[in-house]
Amino acid sequence: MKLVDNKATLSFSNGSPSVDLPVYAGNIGPDVIDIRKLYAQTGMFTYDPGFLSTASCQSAITYIDGDKGELLYRGYPIEQLATQCDYLDTCYLLLNGELPNESQRGDFHKLVTNHTMVNEQMQFFLRGFRRDAHPMAVLTGLVGGLSAFYHDSTDINNPKHREIAAIRLIAKMPTLVAMAYKYGIGQPYMYPKNDLSYSGNFLRMMFGTPCEEYQVNPVLARALDRIFILHADHEQNASTSTVRLAGSSGANPFACIAAGIACLWGPSHGGANEEALNMLKEIGTPERIPEFIEGVKDRKYKLMGFGHRVYKNYDPRAKVMQQSAHEVLEAVGDPNDPLLQVARELERVALNDEYFIERKLFPNVDFYSGITLSAMGFPTTMFTVLFALARTVGWIAQWQEMMEDPSQKIGRPRQLYTGPTQRDYVPVERRG
Ligand code: SDX
Repeated sequence: MKLVDNKATLSFSNGSPSVDLPVYAGNIGPDVIDIRKLYAQTGMFTYDPGFLSTASCQSAITYIDGDKGELLYRGYPIEQLATQCDYLDTCYLLLNGELPNESQRGDFHKLVTNHTMVNEQMQFFLRGFRRDAHPMAVLTGLVGGLSAFYHDSTDINNPKHREIAAIRLIAKMPTLVAMAYKYGIGQPYMYPKNDLSYSGNFLRMMFGTPCEEYQVNPVLARALDRIFILHADHEQNASTSTVRLAGSSGANPFACIAAGIACLWGPSHGGANEEALNMLKEIGTPERIPEFIEGVKDRKYKLMGFGHRVYKNYDPRAKVMQQSAHEVLEAVGDPNDPLLQVARELERVALNDEYFIERKLFPNVDFYSGITLSAMGFPTTMFTVLFALARTVGWIAQWQEMMEDPSQKIGRPRQLYTGPTQRDYVPVERRG
């Protein structure tokens, strides 16, 4: 970041001395006012619950322009990566800052492939869960449990350990996710198969059985790879900020990613894809849309898969996701899937309704993902788990960037205290 020839002067109407604050610029996007010395200079904190106007860090990984609806991974537009790249090359890009050349690509793919198995003890870890446990609860436990298996890669101050932990997490998430699914349906686990692609291997571990050879459908593998790319990273969203905050205390990477998974589960965040499909099923037919929209306006519920803290325009990922929905439904589902009809009519109505227009509410990445994943055979409860699988690379890339930042400190926000002023203890016999 570079100091700009500008400063912010904070003046007070009560005659307190004004304070000059430096302004820094990045390469693109809003400048920042550096308030690190504000408390020392004024005895006051800033106040920004929800961090609507707060930059928590500097980062070179992902850039979002919410007004234009643009998303760049290390400078590359998401639309180009989603249609021309594959997920593992995108992982390499997010982790290393550049797309891999041929030999780097081969080495990275091989490295990930050779780490896809998990310790056999993991099977016994799973047995502690009820069969009907939500897979997000299981995954949070499994990933947190990884730190119990990999002491050899949890010295977070060792760059080599950080790198191997990143590879292990990217490589093992598909295996763990598939194990959580198989455990829930009472089917045997499928071991990874090294001659398959990342997405193809995952589809086989999810839907294959030991009873017959599983044929990977290339259309589904490609669509899933694209869905993983779309979900790979997204600047300082709630779960990424959770990973950074957990990492700032020196917690090991597996524990930090488990914290990110837990945060992603919320319906306002990654849990929205599951809620969005449930919403479409509840609406059922285009005829019921007007009544549903009235309920949204009466604030009875939100339009799931719509709205975004940053995008005040169309989420570029939603456009690519909508294309994937058509492709998958053409390949394996019903191109006239009633849920797709409901989704498209609901989008049309909302985009032309003043209530949504004035609040700049557009479809986000979660609006169409559920229809696509459902057509691919994934149960609704697996949708957020798939989001976590794909986002693991973004979380770990952001965690690595934070760990490599020499100015990194433990994150410790302050507050505006509104509780009781000091008072003396009252013994129980004298309380009212
Ligand atoms: C993800 O941050 C990221 O980058 C996240 C993510 C990523 O890749 O990591 O992009 C993934 O989490 C996408 C978002 C998925 N969530 C949903 O689809 C759930 C539905 N969306 C909303 O809950 C909401 O839009 C949020 C949480 C996503 C954003 O909320 P904000 O920015 O805090 O905005 P807000 O709640 O202050 O809303 C502003 C206004 C309010 O109305 P008023 O009080 O001003 O009258 O818009 C309304 C809200 O009530 N509003 C909605 C709405 N979203 C906002 N009204 C109806 N339906 C909605 N979906």
